[in-house]
Parts: sequence; C-alpha cells; structure tokens
Amino acid sequence: MRNIYLAICIAFIPAAALAAESTIKLDPVEVDLQDKPSLRRGARIFVNYCLSCHSAAYMRYDRMGRDLGISEELVEENLMFATDKVGNLMTVTMPRADAETWFGVAPPDLTLVTRSRGPQWFYNYMRSFYRDPKTVSGWNNLHFPDVAMPNVLYGMQGVQRAVFEPKEDGTKEFQGFEVERPGAMTPKEFDQAMRDLTNFMVYLGEPARLVRGRIGVYVLIFLAVFVVFAYLLKRNYWKDIH
Ligand code: HEC
Repeated sequence: MRNIYLAICIAFIPAAALAAESTIKLDPVEVDLQDKPSLRRGARIFVNYCLSCHSAAYMRYDRMGRDLGISEELVEENLMFATDKVGNLMTVTMPRADAETWFGVAPPDLTLVTRSRGPQWFYNYMRSFYRDPKTVSGWNNLHFPDVAMPNVLYGMQGVQRAVFEPKEDGTKEFQGFEVERPGAMTPKEFDQAMRDLTNFMVYLGEPARLVRGRIGVYVLIFLAVFVVFAYLLKRNYWKDIH
C-alpha cells in the first residue's frame, strides 16, 4: 500500500515543479501541420534567424524540402546557408566552445524543443523577450528569466519593456508589455509569424506526424472493407452448424 502512495507522490512531482517555475499565463497557439504555407514560412524564419546559433541536427535539408513541398533548387537557393549539400544534416558551423565563451552557455539543439517544452511554451517564449539593462545581453525573457539568448527577432517584433509591480511578499507581479520601439511587423503579424515558426518546430520534432495521419486514413478504410469480408466468411463457416 505504501508503494502506491509513493508512486502517486512521484507522479505529481514534475507538475508541482513546473507550476513553481512560472505562474504567468501562456497564450494559446493553434498548431496545424496540414498548413504547408505556414510550415514553409516557419522554415524560412528558422534557417534565417536561428540556424546561425542553434542546430536542428536530426533533420536533413532534402527531407525538409520534400515534406514541405519545396523543390531541391529552392531549398539550395533560399534555405541552405550553413552547408552546400542538400543531403546534409541541419548542423551549425559555430564551434561549441566559442559559443560558450560568447553566451556563457552553448545554444542547445532545437530539433526536439517543442516536445520537451511544449508548443505553447515555445510560442510564448518567442514573443516574450523584453529590454533589460541589468542582463549581459540587454535582453530578458518573461518565460525564461535571465536567458542567455538575445532577442534575434527584434527587427520584426520591435522592442518592448516589461512592467512589473512589486508585491508585499517581495516578489514582482507581471503587468504587461509596453512598446518601446515598433518593429517591421504589427503585433498581429508578429504573432502570426511566431505561430508559423511554432508550427515548423512541431513538424521538426516529429516529421512522421505528416505521414502518420495519411496512413491512418488508409488503415481505417482497409479495416472497414475487411470487416465485410470477415463477416461473410463467418456466415459461410457457421452455415451448416446452425
Ligand atoms: C545569437 C545566438 C542565438 C540565436 C541566433 C538564436 N538563439 Fe536561441 N538560444 C541561444 C542561447 C545562448 C540559448 C541558451 C539560453 C540559456 O540557456 O540561458 C538559447 C536558447 C533557446 C531556447 C531555449 C531552449 C531550452 O529548452 O532551454 C529556445 C526555444 C531558442 N533558443 C529558440 C531560438 C529560435 C527559435 C531562434 C531563431 C528565431 C533562436 N533561438 C536564435 C542563442 C541564440
């Protein structure tokens, strides 16, 4: 019996730990892997703005092109900056040791980030960078306090400041963001771009999801047809017995 209590306690530890990490509400994000144009736009942002520091070392350029319906020539022209062979993995040229010296911590591989952190966290993280003169990079993040990553998308998003209100128990409560300088996109356009990026990151974490849905439909059709034949066969076998 005691073991059961222990198992229940252990099952709740991660939830409790996560809950303690951040109490700030996450905005919802709709992930739709059938939306190929959105996946392509997300891929474009990823290779242009993220691949210089982060790798996606479980994915090859040609597979990405095939899955997203982009021809090999277009992949080579528009999406490949870190390598020259379309069959290569999406690795990064920045040496790990240098990255650690520059940022204090090497940028992690991002292939599985929406699986470890969840798509919703990722979407909110990307929209929550704010100016903070107290950090080394001058940036901070609402969902990743004292993050070593600068806001690489501030050209699109603009620069925002976070407003906190001190509470009696010494902690600060987040009130909202204030625009310091607008970016090239409106907030709505930027949210859409981050949805595209989230969509792409979910695809990156599990490319087989694209195929799985399609195969699932065929399997169900097969089973439906098979039921008819199985039933006819059963009727035939039992004919003489009844
Ligand atoms: C200038 C280098 C640089 C660029 C460019 C960059 N990042 Fe980062 N990123 C970092 C560093 C360094 C960290 C580690 C932060 C830490 O642990 O404090 C990080 C951390 C992250 C994390 C958190 C990972 C985790 O689970 O801990 C995510 C998500 C992320 N980056 C996404 C992106 C995306 C998406 C882009 C492209 C839009 C991008 N980054 C571009 C340097 C970069």
